[in-house]
Amino acid sequence: MNSPVILSIGEISQRTGIATSALRFYESIGLIRSQRNRGNQRRFQRAVIRRVAVIKAAQRAGIPLDDIGQVMGTLPADRAPTSSEWKRFSNSWKRDLEARIGQLTRIKDDLAGCIGCGCLSIENCALINPNDELARVLVGTSKLERGTRPLETPS
Ligand code: FES
Repeated sequence: MNSPVILSIGEISQRTGIATSALRFYESIGLIRSQRNRGNQRRFQRAVIRRVAVIKAAQRAGIPLDDIGQVMGTLPADRAPTSSEWKRFSNSWKRDLEARIGQLTRIKDDLAGCIGCGCLSIENCALINPNDELARVLVGTSKLERGTRPLETPS
């Protein structure tokens, strides 16, 4: 039986383009795992390269490390994700990305409405009071009854 390929942290860094400090951080939060040799140096299985590739791709898509950790936690630590696992992860992250794009587009549109306005109304500005969230606080009053109340300026 062949023994698994064992790589140093420097070799993992070279092959993935990820700094050794980042690799140590990934290990500290459980995204990757190493073993120690007799000299107490980290040694990684080859599968770690693909795990790091998944982490890198997810980070590029803006996925928070906590979310990446949850997904990676569903895999055994000593093997790379399979093609079908990668497909499942990437589809899920694509949906997250689309939701964030939608949210950012709405914020951009709200901001466009504010350009040149300057009212800074706590109640009527869509950027400050998205979806009229203030209405939940001020139950029983309509937007029109509340009128425009600009932010107080410091004296
Ligand atoms: S500043 Fe946002 S609507 Fe006036």
